[in-house]
Amino acid sequence: MSFYTLIPKKDHILLLDQRLLPAKTHYLKVRTYRDAYDVIKKMAVRGAPAIGVTAAFGVWLGARAIKTNDRRKYLAGLEKVCKHIINARPTAHNLSWAVNRMLAVARSGTSAPLEITGKLYREAVHIYHEDIDANKRMGDYGERLIKSGWTVLTHCNAGALATAGYGTALGVLRSAKDAGKKIKVFADETRPFLQGARLTAWELQQDGFDVTLITDNMAGWMMKQGLINACIVGADRIAANGDTANKVGTYGVALLARMHNLPFYVAAPSSTFDPTIPSGDGIIIEERPQKEVVTIAGKQIAPMGIKVRNPAFDVTPAKYITAIITERGVIIPPYKKGIKDLLG
Ligand code: MRU
Repeated sequence: MSFYTLIPKKDHILLLDQRLLPAKTHYLKVRTYRDAYDVIKKMAVRGAPAIGVTAAFGVWLGARAIKTNDRRKYLAGLEKVCKHIINARPTAHNLSWAVNRMLAVARSGTSAPLEITGKLYREAVHIYHEDIDANKRMGDYGERLIKSGWTVLTHCNAGALATAGYGTALGVLRSAKDAGKKIKVFADETRPFLQGARLTAWELQQDGFDVTLITDNMAGWMMKQGLINACIVGADRIAANGDTANKVGTYGVALLARMHNLPFYVAAPSSTFDPTIPSGDGIIIEERPQKEVVTIAGKQIAPMGIKVRNPAFDVTPAKYITAIITERGVIIPPYKKGIKDLLG
């Protein structure tokens, strides 16, 4: 791959600005925790695991700027930093998971502030590498479910760009290809932010995949004609019963897959599971700005003043999911027990 989602440096991070892809490969300098909040909120970085990793480095950047030797004051300052970053986006569980993990490292032991800041950097780097390892393990488990000769539909971008590297759903496809399987991919364009057209099509094309871009409303017709053998998507938050929040449109793809008797797979690391939420009903769905719907590349495409809805995610009920691929193995229904066992 010719890009990195995020590059840790000594006193900042470099972050690939995904809003400019595929036209431009430009790295933003993220120097403060407020920068980290902004790049997440404004979707320069997106995708649940990539958001989590960025947030972890954001906590470290916030810690660096706390100028006190008093551990109690330092931790109080850090809590404010964490609270701020967690509020950047509401749906991806990896965000609060990563921030809380960083906070736990800071609170543990009796270290002085300077030492804690060092520990926080090492933890963020650890979360970064752990994510890539998890994706590769997910790839190993998941590729066994994919048959050579298949065409697989994916929605949104659950690739290297959405993670620290390799990808979840696209990682499974990468592993299948590396195992010598002949795989074709159909990428939904994923309105309104076009993660499929701009990001998935771009990263798979660079990787030498046979990838075909379709608009979201074409998926059913492709299935009807027998052109798709399976679907695979990522996840932003998975409830205790397996209900899965992912990019809006995923629910429709899952229903279409069921109607056409196709397997519908979700690939996600354990950091995406939220056992505190019993079902998808409890998942907060982010509503994004209206302008994302009424403009394309900055150009107004709908009447001025039109009423608009823009939920960024939807929830696919667990009953439509054939299996959930994780770095610890593949979970099949009943999900409640499988998820409980997975998380220990
Ligand atoms: O709004 P986004 O682009 O952050 O949404 C991303 C998705 O919905 C992805 O499918 C999900 O985060 C999984 S990424 C491995």
